[in-house]
Amino acid sequence: MSDSVDSSTLDLFERSLARCEARPGFLDLFYEKFMASSPEVAGKFAGTDFVRQKRALKASFHHLLLVAHDRKQTPDVYLSDVAARHGSGQLEIGASLYDFWLDSLLETVKACDPEWSLEVDHAWEAVMMVGIHYLCQSYHGRHEK
Ligand code: HEM
Repeated sequence: MSDSVDSSTLDLFERSLARCEARPGFLDLFYEKFMASSPEVAGKFAGTDFVRQKRALKASFHHLLLVAHDRKQTPDVYLSDVAARHGSGQLEIGASLYDFWLDSLLETVKACDPEWSLEVDHAWEAVMMVGIHYLCQSYHGRHEK
C-alpha cells in the first residue's frame, strides 16, 4: 500500500492545484502535451470527448487529495472504477504510459502555476504517484494492499 503524504505536501499541492485551475486552458495544455508525448498515448484517445475527459481528470485530482491524505481511511471507491477502466481488458494502459502522463502534467504545472517551485513540483509528484501506483497495481483487476 502507498504511504500517506504529509499534510504540508498536501497543502502545497492543494494551493498549486487551485492556482492552476484558475488559469484558463490548464487542462487543455496538459492534454496537448500528453497527446504529443507518444503516438501510443494519442492512439488511446482517438474518439475521446475531451470536455467530459477534462471534467473527469479534474475530479481525479481532488479524489487523489483525499486518497493521499490517508489511504487507510479512504475507501477505494474513489479510484476503483478509474483503475478498472485503465486496466487489462479495457483501456489497457501499461505502466510505461504513466511516465508520459506524469512528465506532461509536471511540465503543465510548471507553465501554469505562477508560484511554481521545486517544492511544488515534488508535491504534485508525491500526490500523483499515489494514484499511479494504485492504477498500476490494479491493472489485473485486483488491488494488492
Ligand atoms: C494517475 C493517472 C491517471 C488518472 C488519475 C486518470 C484518470 C482518468 C479518468 C478519471 C478517466 C475517465 C474515466 C471515465 O470514463 O469516467 C480517464 C479516462 C481515460 N484515461 Fe486516464 N488517467 C490516468 C492515466 C492515464 C494514462 C497514463 C493514460 C494513457 C494513455 C490514460 C488514458 C485514458 C483514456 C484513453 C481514457 C478514456 C477516454 C475516453 O473515454 O475516450 N489515462 N482517466
